This record gives sequence, structure tokens and C-alpha cells, in this order.
Amino acid sequence: MNPPHWPIVWVIGASTGIGRELAIQLAAKGSTVAVSARSEEKLKDIPGNTHPYPVDVTNASQVQGVAETIVRDVGPIDLAICAAGRFTPLDIAEFNVANFTDTMNVNYLGVIHALASLVPMMRKRGKGHIAVIASVAGYRGLPKAAAYGPTKAALINLAESLKPDLERDGIGISVINPGFVATPMTAHNDFPMPFIMSPQAAAARTIADLEKGKFEIAFPRRFVVFTKLGRILPYSIFFWFSRRFLTSPSAN
Ligand SMILES: NC(=O)c1ccc[n+]([C@@H]2O[C@H](COP(=O)([O-])OP(=O)(O)OC[C@H]3O[C@@H](n4cnc5c(N)ncnc54)[C@H](OP(=O)(O)O)[C@@H]3O)[C@@H](O)[C@H]2O)c1
Repeated sequence: MNPPHWPIVWVIGASTGIGRELAIQLAAKGSTVAVSARSEEKLKDIPGNTHPYPVDVTNASQVQGVAETIVRDVGPIDLAICAAGRFTPLDIAEFNVANFTDTMNVNYLGVIHALASLVPMMRKRGKGHIAVIASVAGYRGLPKAAAYGPTKAALINLAESLKPDLERDGIGISVINPGFVATPMTAHNDFPMPFIMSPQAAAARTIADLEKGKFEIAFPRRFVVFTKLGRILPYSIFFWFSRRFLTSPSAN
């Protein structure tokens, strides 16, 4: 086997879905993978050379403590993937503020907590790579995603802002923007999910593009083309598309 691209990897949000698959596939490629999320039992079940480090990303000091423990136990982190996230569709009939705060706390501030522990370590070494999972839902506002989409738009903007500064210190950053992926997060969605992919395919695509050093990793291509076009299309056409393909009949 070739030596792994990243000897030591930390996947945060690895207990299920895309993060779990990333951990399995990276371990299969020879990396030693520290895996984090809240569900310790699920972390222990991840096959391959993976090591559970439970954490709640909303707790900054816990994240810092876990990052330091991983470095002490396993070694310096070459690649960290921030995959922890939550999505609860927003029902405008119950404009639930907790949905907004909880989603921002996990999806956005959770990444900030990880960065706060990782950046000083990586700056000291003058190397390391950080990958943040945002979403195509961060490109434009999509139906039912009013609590979720803004957190992902913020992550895309965050990664763009940090890239030049991190690069100067030898640290790479990537932003991963998946379309729909069949995971526990999307299992109960009652709206159409065009071009939905398996978590295995999403993880394989992510790793291949990370190995190429890409900044933005977005898939599947057909859905990304539509959503990116949506950024430059006039609102009338954008909303036609959104109503036609992304809104369930009951919501019309
Ligand atoms: N599935 C899609 O269609 C899709 C599309 C675009 C982007 N994404 C993004 O991809 C990432 C992975 O999502 P997924 O689809 O794989 O969903 P998932 O299967 O629900 O995985 C979410 C992961 O985040 C962890 N997590 C949630 N809250 C956490 C917290 N407070 N602290 C630590 N870990 C926490 C969960 O573990 P615990 O519950 O054990 O803590 C789980 O490991 C998310 O950022 C999501 O927004 C997904």
C-alpha cells in the first residue's frame, strides 16, 4: 500500500453518514483516524484504524481538550474534517427560534471551536489541512432550509476569508459542498431530493478532490451546476426552479 496522503486524520461528526464513511475510507487508505461526535458507542463501531474521541462541538473547551488529547495519544493532526452538522427543516407555521440557535451552534460555531484548537497547532508545525463540510444549500436560499442554509453560507464565506491567511502559515483549507446525500440527516425529508448520492460515493469524491488539493469540493455535478447557476440567474427563474424541483406539492 502507498503511504497515506495524511498519516493522522481527525474526523469530527464521524458517528454516522458522510463523516463515518470518510473515516472508514481514509483508514482503508492507511491513515490513523481519530473520530469524534457525541455518540461514543457509534464511534466505537467504526471499522478500521479508527480511535474514538467523543465530543460535543458546541462546547469549546471540550473540543480544545479532545484536540490536545488526540495529539498526545496519536500524534499531530495532518488533516481535520469538520463534518458535524444538524438539519431540521423549518416549518414556517412554527417559527422555532431554537432551530436557528441550535443549528448555528453546531454547524457554524462548532467549526469555529475546532478551528480555534487546530489553527494554533498547525501554525506551530507550519503544515496541516482543514476541510469544512458546508453545503450547496449555502449558495442560495432553498425551501425549508432557513435555519440551515445561512449556517452553510457562513461556512463558505468563512473558508474564503481564512484561505489566504492560513496559506501564508502553511495551512490548507477546503470547503466541501455536497448536494443531497442519503444519511440519517436526510432520511426523514418529505421533499424532493434531486440527484441524491450514497454516503460512500460522497466520501470517495471528497477524498479524491482533497488529495488533488482543491479548495471547493462540490458534487454531484448536475445539481451543483443548477445551484451555482441559481446564483446568477434572475430571481424569477431561480424561484421557478426552486418551486418546480424543490418544493413538495403539499407546501405549495
Ligand atoms: N446529507 C446531506 O444531504 C448533506 C448535504 C450537504 C451537506 N451535508 C453536511 O454534511 C455533514 C454530515 O452530514 P450527514 O448527512 O452525514 O448527517 P448525519 O449522518 O446526521 O451526521 C451528522 C454528524 O454530526 C454529528 N453531530 C451532530 N451534532 C453534534 C454535536 N453537537 N457535537 C458533535 N457532533 C455532532 C453527529 O453525531 P452525534 O449525533 O453522535 O453527535 C453525526 O456524526 C453535515 O455538516 C451536513 O450539514 C449533508
